[in-house]
Amino acid sequence: MNTQLLSDSDTDLEHAASILSQGGTVAVPTETVYGLAANARDATAVAKIFAAKGRPSNHPLIVHIHNTKQLSELSANVPQQAYTLADAFWPGPLTMILPKHERALDAVTGGLDSIGVRMPAHPVLHRLLSEGDLIVAAPSANPHKKLSPTSAQQVFKELYGKIDAVVDGGPCAVGLESTIIDLSRINEGESPRVLRAGPITAIQLSKVLGEAVIGYTAHQQQVPGNIKQHYQPNSRLVVMNTQALSALVTQWPEEAACLYYSDHLISKFDQLETPPAHLQRLSSDKSEYARALYAALYQLDQQGIKQILVEHPPHSDEWEDVNDRLKRASA
Ligand code: TXA
Ligand code: MG
Repeated sequence: MNTQLLSDSDTDLEHAASILSQGGTVAVPTETVYGLAANARDATAVAKIFAAKGRPSNHPLIVHIHNTKQLSELSANVPQQAYTLADAFWPGPLTMILPKHERALDAVTGGLDSIGVRMPAHPVLHRLLSEGDLIVAAPSANPHKKLSPTSAQQVFKELYGKIDAVVDGGPCAVGLESTIIDLSRINEGESPRVLRAGPITAIQLSKVLGEAVIGYTAHQQQVPGNIKQHYQPNSRLVVMNTQALSALVTQWPEEAACLYYSDHLISKFDQLETPPAHLQRLSSDKSEYARALYAALYQLDQQGIKQILVEHPPHSDEWEDVNDRLKRASA
């Protein structure tokens, strides 16, 4: 298969929409990470996603929509809370797990009786989906367990020959996967719960809903696809606290790279006459840090770095998603 790299021109988006309508696979930009899309109404097309990624077929996929009216095609019993959250956070980095409509495909949900839905905030993807009046199932466009891609070039390189096309919509603005909130049992009286920490925190969700939202670390609910080792670079990744890294600065392990952000380490490294190669400074602003993290890890992988030492980010709620991804990347 000769994977095509497409631009965001009208002609290219029409072409991408027709590939999707005919059952092909197209990697698409979203504000979080690139997704690998196929027509969510076509089980044969959806199966191609699993083949391209090497993903187990019982791992459920998120369906990406461009219009809230499409919710009722996917969920028979959309809870009122879903519309409240959609008003506040869509289009945006929030996935809602809802009771599945019987017509929605088992190929998409891995046979579960719930379905994940998100309306992404990327103008290029929005045009593409509107063009063909499409809904697409799309996981992150990485080989199974690997780093999620934040650029079209990364997808092109990693999945070349396995998918029909990649649409280049530029680098992802958010850079980490969406927050997932489970609303599938709230019609039966269960509280909403966060299944994956993401850019929108449990506190923000709870404020908008006016009710308690069970945070991501407060429960141990397991779903297929929510796996311990995930988001992994090829290099060995070790997360260390600032003090421990600081102690290493003058006896730096040869060939280790470092991702750091604190003023303390910045000044420590600045004092060195010959600082170690492969130092990469990230922002202490959470959003900027998240936007740059995967790209930095991918770049170090491309250079064949064996070990990456990462300064432990702050422990606050705001950083929960970053901490979660780093934990899995180092598992
Ligand atoms: O930001 C994102 O969410 C990106 C972009 C492309 O939209 N997508 C993404 O998809 O991260 P993926 O497949 O890499 O991760 C989706 C997660 C998986 O861990 C899966 O298990 C969970 O969502 N999921 C999907 N449907 C579910 C369901 N019905 N119940 C529980 N978990 C579900
Ligand atoms: Mg993924």
